[in-house]
Amino acid sequence: MGLAGLTDLRVVFVGGKGGVGKTTMAGGLGAHAAGQGKRVLVVSTDPAHSLGDLFERSIGDAVTGVTAGLWCLEIDPDAQAQRHVDRVTEQMKGLAAPAMHQELVRQMDTARHSPGAMEAALLERIAGLIADQGGDYDLLIFDTAPTGHTLRLLSLPEAMAAWTDGLLAHNKRSEQLGQVLKHLTPGKRGEEMPTPFDDPREDAFAGMDRRTRHVAETLLERRRLFHRARRVMTDGQRTGFVFTVIPERLPILETARAVRTLTEYEIPIRGAIINQLIPDDADGEFLARRRQREARYLDQIQHELSGLDTLRVPLQSDDLQGVEALERGLIPILREHGV
Ligand SMILES: Nc1ncnc2c1ncn2[C@@H]1O[C@H](COP(=O)(O)OP(=O)(O)O)[C@@H](O)[C@H]1O
Ligand SMILES: [Mg+2]
Repeated sequence: MGLAGLTDLRVVFVGGKGGVGKTTMAGGLGAHAAGQGKRVLVVSTDPAHSLGDLFERSIGDAVTGVTAGLWCLEIDPDAQAQRHVDRVTEQMKGLAAPAMHQELVRQMDTARHSPGAMEAALLERIAGLIADQGGDYDLLIFDTAPTGHTLRLLSLPEAMAAWTDGLLAHNKRSEQLGQVLKHLTPGKRGEEMPTPFDDPREDAFAGMDRRTRHVAETLLERRRLFHRARRVMTDGQRTGFVFTVIPERLPILETARAVRTLTEYEIPIRGAIINQLIPDDADGEFLARRRQREARYLDQIQHELSGLDTLRVPLQSDDLQGVEALERGLIPILREHGV
């Protein structure tokens, strides 16, 4: 499985260390796929968004059209966390006694600022996009945040379950809910856990009051969403991960680490784009020396990422900015490689 045919997938993740050209590659792949007649949505999950810079327009937290067949979205993790916590707070209010409401809001507000809340909310949005089969787009491309963050995103069902359980622990006094939570406890990676709710003969909601039942159903629905998303993400027919790397020590090491971890998570890796190579026609003694150094790093990439399909993109004299620049400087290379 290589980079050829990449745009025939449903979901592509573009990962790599900050500054190596992830956003450029994600946007370039998007413009390339749109040029093939596909409907493409490029989604940035990096809090330091730059899709807007790439396409020279403001994008933000709403789907924005860029060119024919290409849309972009910059998820705002802060706003996402706020919406998420608001929703959960409303649900919890339904369960807690009115006298508890003020305390509940206070605790939920703390939860919003707790580490992991923004990520968890982000996860839910991403999972929703991925799990939305037969949705509005042929291809979703994620311009992901620096690798460490992406890897945490990929452990999604567990991360989310832990967070949800944490929030609900505030409401431990609800015995019924406690029972529901037992069934929501995350299992091993990649493993589908049968729950009493999946068995039509058993009515696990029996005996719950209406509100508890509603919360339980919501939680269950969320868990199913994460499992659906993970099923898509681990399916090589539908999903592929592409690294962007530059011939420098740290990005290479970080990418090699990420490849190992993703492999462990059974995420299908399609290859790596080696970006910012010194162009063949660049001359001068300085660049000749830099090229020797680059050759050593290319050897290292060969060694560290052996077995991965790679594609080389030269450093351009100008920034790769705007659809036209991508069409000139990047898309021909993608096309040549059969991407
Ligand atoms: N091959 C290239 N040639 C010239 N400039 C590039 C190339 N790849 C990326 N850039 C520029 O480098 C900067 C960082 O790229 P970006 O895609 O935003 O990186 P990341 O998303 O990984 O942080 C941008 O200004 C972009 O235009
Ligand atoms: Mg970026």
